[in-house]
Amino acid sequence: MSTTIIAHRGASRSAPENTMSAFEHAYQSGAEGIETDVQLTKDNVPVLMHDERLNRTTNSSGYLKDYTFSQLQQLDAGSWFSRKYSGEKILSLDELLQWAHNKSLYLNIELKNNKIDYKNLENIVVDMISQFRLQNCTTISTFNPKSVERLSAITKQTGIALLTSKRRRNPVENAKQLGASAVHIKYRLLSKRLIQQCKRENMRVRVYTVNRPSRMKRCFFYRCDGIFTDIPDQALDYRQQL
Ligand code: G3P
Ligand code: CA
Repeated sequence: MSTTIIAHRGASRSAPENTMSAFEHAYQSGAEGIETDVQLTKDNVPVLMHDERLNRTTNSSGYLKDYTFSQLQQLDAGSWFSRKYSGEKILSLDELLQWAHNKSLYLNIELKNNKIDYKNLENIVVDMISQFRLQNCTTISTFNPKSVERLSAITKQTGIALLTSKRRRNPVENAKQLGASAVHIKYRLLSKRLIQQCKRENMRVRVYTVNRPSRMKRCFFYRCDGIFTDIPDQALDYRQQL
């Protein structure tokens, strides 16, 4: 199996991250997977945004958790990127799954619950994925080890990944013990040893965020299960050249 090219927050070099334009761009350019970030609104709607605050990627400010979904829908999530994208909306997870469910895409839904541990987020997301029957092509990931444990208690069908950005003694065994089926690692943690451990433990390994050609090639050489990249179109070209 070749390394899956996963569009990080959509094709986020070409369009504003986590918006429909970014996902559409990724899909049209042939990306095999989509990565996104999920948080809960004040009225418990799962929505797609990376930062806890609205400041960087919308025309508003403050914490996302303090806004209802209908309030968030009034905001502009595209102008910060380029005037061309003004009026782009903050999406709900439901809207993304509706768009994705007939597209044969791999999905990685990252729970952004390491700083704010949103109550019941795991159940809400797992239920929604099963409503759309997307369990077999989806991985839910999080940096929060407790959340990995909660996920593994409520789903056996959906992939679960522990995200890791720091060097730890036994990252693969640790993730497996928590109930994960994959580790999603920052590029600098990639090593031959880690790949071998993953193979031994039957754990998937995916790497973020891989934008440099030399790094992509190393991931392909190691046969990583996936890379998260902001430039899926270029990654597809590099993979084809191998
Ligand atoms: O899911 C991989 C990667 O997106 C994790 O880091 O900060 O881009 O959400 P971040
Ligand atoms: Ca992410």
